[in-house]
Amino acid sequence: MLKKIKSRDVQLGMYVHEVCGSWMDNPFWKKSFKLINDKDLRAIKDYNIKEIWIDTDRGLDVANEAPVVTDEEEKNHINTAMHEIATQHKIHKPRVPVKEELVRARKVVTDAKKDIIVMFNDARMGKAVNMDQASNLVDDINQSISRNSDALLSLVRLKNANNYTYMHSIAVSGLMMALGKELGLDSDTIQEVGMAGLMHDIGKLYIPSKILNKVGRLTDAEFVIMKSHPFQGWELLKNTSDVTEITLDVCLHHHERVDGEGYPDRLSGNELSLYARMGAVCDVYDAITSTRCYKASWEPAESLRKMAEWKEGQFDDTVFSAFVKAIGVYPTGTLVKLKTGRLALVVEQTKSSLLKPIVKVFFSTNSMVHIMPELLDLSLSPDSIIGKEDPLHWGLDLTKISDL
Ligand SMILES: [Fe+2]
Ligand SMILES: [Fe+2]
Repeated sequence: MLKKIKSRDVQLGMYVHEVCGSWMDNPFWKKSFKLINDKDLRAIKDYNIKEIWIDTDRGLDVANEAPVVTDEEEKNHINTAMHEIATQHKIHKPRVPVKEELVRARKVVTDAKKDIIVMFNDARMGKAVNMDQASNLVDDINQSISRNSDALLSLVRLKNANNYTYMHSIAVSGLMMALGKELGLDSDTIQEVGMAGLMHDIGKLYIPSKILNKVGRLTDAEFVIMKSHPFQGWELLKNTSDVTEITLDVCLHHHERVDGEGYPDRLSGNELSLYARMGAVCDVYDAITSTRCYKASWEPAESLRKMAEWKEGQFDDTVFSAFVKAIGVYPTGTLVKLKTGRLALVVEQTKSSLLKPIVKVFFSTNSMVHIMPELLDLSLSPDSIIGKEDPLHWGLDLTKISDL
C-alpha cells in the first residue's frame, strides 16, 4: 500500500516509492529505492524534503500514530482541487487551430534555437548578450503563444541532451507569457516576463557539463556548484545594458520557494515578487515534463497533479491556479479515458471548458483493439473524460499516436 508520510517519520527499512518535490531540488536520482543507509536518511533531512511516499508492501510500515495520507485520498483531493480550478476558468478569445499554428511554431522554435546558441556562446566568451535579438525572439514566441499556445508548448517538450538548455529557455519563456496572460498582466509586462523566462538559466553557462548532465546523484560539492547558477546568471545580466528588473529578479530567484526553503536568498512570502513566483512554477513544470539524461519525463497532466501535491510551501496558490488554467487540467499531449471506454489523446484545448478539450480517439478498452483515429470535440459531444491514463500501462508511445 502506498502511504504519504512526513519526512520526520521516515526510518531505515522503509521502501521509498517517491520523494515529494521537484527533481531539481533533491539528490536522489532513482525514483524508488529501499532506504538502507544512513547517508540517504540524512539526505532526506538535509535537503528539506517534507514528505515521502512509501510502499508498505516492500518495506517497513510507519508507526500507527503518524499522520498518513493514502494514495486514494490524495487522488480524490487533487481531482477536487483541479476541478475547482477548471470551473473558475474564464473563456478566452478565439485562437487559430493547433494544426495551423504548428507550422509557424516549428519555424519560431528552429530560429529561436539558432539565436539562443549564438547569444549563449557570446556570453560564454565574455561578449555582451544582444538584447535586441533576444527581444525579437521573445516577440515571435509571444505571437505564437497568442495564436495558440498548445502548438509551441508541445514542440518544446521534445528535448534531448544536446538541445535541453535552449529548448528549456524557449519553453519557460512561452510558459511565462501564457501564464502572464492568464494573470491579466499588460502587454509590456507580458513581453518582459517572456524575456525573463528566456534568460532565467543563463547562469548555467558557468556550470561544468559533467555536473549539468551527470547521470546519478550529485555530490554535496557538485550540488553547491549547481545551485550557484541563479547568482552567476544575475551577475552576468546586471552588467548587460537593457536588461529589466523583472529579468534580473527571475534569474536570481526562480529557485526560491514561498516557505523560504529555496535558494539562493531563502526569500519567503511577500519578499518574493509575483515574477519570481511565476518563474518557479514555469521552471519546475518544464523540467519535470522533459526527459533528461538521468530522468524520464512525466506527462503534462501527471506533472500538474504532482505539482498540486507539492504546492504547499513550494508554489504560490494564485499563480499555480492561473498556471493550470493557462495549460489546461488535461494539457495537450495527455492520454485520457472516456466514459465510453475509449482511449484518446488530448490534441487541443477548447474555449468552453478545461474539462472538455478536443481529443483524438484511437483505442477501445472494451474490445481491446485499435479503432480508426477520429477527432472528437468533447465540448460538443455527449462523451466525456473520466480520467487520465498512464501511457506505460497501455504500452503506448504517444509520439506515434499524435502522428496518426
Ligand atoms: Fe534554474
Ligand atoms: Fe530552469
